[in-house]
Amino acid sequence: MRVPLLDLSEQYRLLAAPIRREFDEILHTQSFILGPKVEEFERLLAEYCGARHAVGVSSGTDALLAILMALGIGPGDAVITTAYTFFATAGCIARVGATPIFVDIDRVTCNISPAAISDFLERRCERNAQKDLVDRNGRVVRAIVPVHLFGLCADMDPINEIAGRHQLAVIEDAAQAIGAEYLTKQNGARRAGTMSKAACFSFYPSKNLGAAGDAGMIVCDDETLANRFRIFRQHGMEERYFHQVIGGNFRLDAIQAAILKVKLPYLDEWSAARRSAADFYQEEFTRRGLTNVMALPAEPHRQPGLTNHHIYHQYVIRVPQRDALQRHLAQREIGSAIYYPLGLHQQKCFEHLGYKDGDLPETERAACETLALPMFPELTREMQSYVVEAIADFVGNSKAESSLRAPVSEPISNARLKG
Ligand SMILES: Cc1ncc(COP(=O)(O)O)c(C=O)c1O
Repeated sequence: MRVPLLDLSEQYRLLAAPIRREFDEILHTQSFILGPKVEEFERLLAEYCGARHAVGVSSGTDALLAILMALGIGPGDAVITTAYTFFATAGCIARVGATPIFVDIDRVTCNISPAAISDFLERRCERNAQKDLVDRNGRVVRAIVPVHLFGLCADMDPINEIAGRHQLAVIEDAAQAIGAEYLTKQNGARRAGTMSKAACFSFYPSKNLGAAGDAGMIVCDDETLANRFRIFRQHGMEERYFHQVIGGNFRLDAIQAAILKVKLPYLDEWSAARRSAADFYQEEFTRRGLTNVMALPAEPHRQPGLTNHHIYHQYVIRVPQRDALQRHLAQREIGSAIYYPLGLHQQKCFEHLGYKDGDLPETERAACETLALPMFPELTREMQSYVVEAIADFVGNSKAESSLRAPVSEPISNARLKG
């Protein structure tokens, strides 16, 4: 049996007719960029997230870039984030001329650790004569960018509390987490993107809500800020050809907005199907006694009142012999992927920041152990059983081999940890 990591064909088959109708209409009207289709999708997405405003942009990367630009973050500034994320998170910070400051992740969730943020601010920063919070290199710390990795919200309550205490802006990188929920102490259940000053979303085709190309969105509650984002997405102009600031071409295409609008009503159903597949993996791995040799994704937000406590954009396990397992799965025609093989602090392009191996031990450990397994709404139980079977064989074989050659390595963590 062949089990791909992701298969979007069924989703397209289901929605081909309404998508084609939207395309025909756009071709007929010849209104390709921004315009009514984009405005309609912005309205629907803001409503879905529970935000006041949504601004359609060309990608998740451009969403984050536009937010940083509009907040005036630039040279001499520093932004705290995680090194265990897709490159864009830190790439955007560097592209506006600011410095990414990487802090470690939480071992269980792989999201940024509030304790590590606090530790950095308390021990490595101080207020200067202008009352700015500066790090040891004199850079002004301006913001925190938590990432809701793999579809699980970062621990936003302590992050917002720390940010409030130090007067820092929080910008959510919600690229992987559309619809994911978190139970805040003050405001009850909130969806990703509505727990900070502004947030970015990506509609890259493989996302839970995917376009037919690149597309993204900024959401926020503040109207003045939303208007600023609109100005930045159009080369800094409000009135045509009069440029108040230097922005970029971050506009969203009507075709992408239209396809996303067709898909949006199905999003919660698709995320529920992913969750159900995650439950099945959990049951099967447990039944086969595999949870003492691998760690399953944590679900710290699973609690009454939260439906989308995880949207399983990716289903990521942790195993000590990750690379060998990936090769074994490939031999059985099972797709898998490594998100991410290297911490961003270890990337060549960030060498000048001076991080060393060992600086972020949890990030580095995750980069060696994580493996994403097949996950999409239409994944069948038969396919999943085949994946579990293949992993059970691998574990059985490696136990037999290692008992001949070397002691079996320590299990890394016990079962799915719940907070
Ligand atoms: C965490 C994170 N941030 C930002 C982005 C950038 O989004 P895009 O690919 O739409 O530019 C991605 C995309 O995969 C992502 O996963």
